[in-house]
Amino acid sequence: MDNELQKIQRGYSRISGFYEFYNKLLYKMFGIGDTLQFRQNAIDSLELKKGEIVIDLACGAGINFSPLEEIVGIEGKIVGVDITKKMLDLAKKKIKENNWKNIELIQCDAAQYTHPEQVDGIVCTFSMYSIPDYKSAIQCCAENLKSGRNLSIFDVKLMKGFMKIANPILFFVTRNIGGSYEKLGRKPWKEMEKYFDNIHITEDFFGLLYYAVGTKK
Ligand SMILES: C[S@@+](CC[C@H](N)C(=O)[O-])C[C@H]1O[C@@H](n2cnc3c(N)ncnc32)[C@H](O)[C@@H]1O
Repeated sequence: MDNELQKIQRGYSRISGFYEFYNKLLYKMFGIGDTLQFRQNAIDSLELKKGEIVIDLACGAGINFSPLEEIVGIEGKIVGVDITKKMLDLAKKKIKENNWKNIELIQCDAAQYTHPEQVDGIVCTFSMYSIPDYKSAIQCCAENLKSGRNLSIFDVKLMKGFMKIANPILFFVTRNIGGSYEKLGRKPWKEMEKYFDNIHITEDFFGLLYYAVGTKK
């Protein structure tokens, strides 16, 4: 495994014990409060139905599982993929506590994940900025997704306008979990254009938060 991936795994393993607290602190620092509505928008834009299969790419502690379960139901399936074992352990704990029976967890690099069958939706939240080979990750998403179905990426990026002055803080708080100026400046929707149509990008908080949704060609 390359050094960058190992660094990300080490970083997330270190914060896994207080991940949800860290998340909340980060967003309080930027004054953007609760990000749940943004998550929900990203999930809703998959247009999933009961009984369908969805991949939660770089699922971390499984924060998306509850809203995804609400949509696909017990007859559907959620596949959580993540590179960090300790984050998957948190996800496993959440699955047990909620007695969910239809979630499969896989430890794998998002840039290499091949699902045995094409799925009905893929969501990737707060992770695309850190995935070292994000171009391959987007290509894998396209290969794993049925034509006409959606990939939704919800993430952070460098801010615009006068809020640019806060970008060093964003770099500082993400530097041990895969953040760099180059990575936080990514525009993954440009890569999506190769495989996806109807790409919509919604930004807020001076460009700090965005979600990009596209339909597989
Ligand atoms: C900020 S957390 C987000 C977790 C979850 N998606 C959420 O919204 O709370 C980023 C996650 O991406 C995972 N990750 C980073 N690079 C990855 C890669 N190349 N492949 C798979 N997972 C990766 C990390 O292990 C971590 O769990």
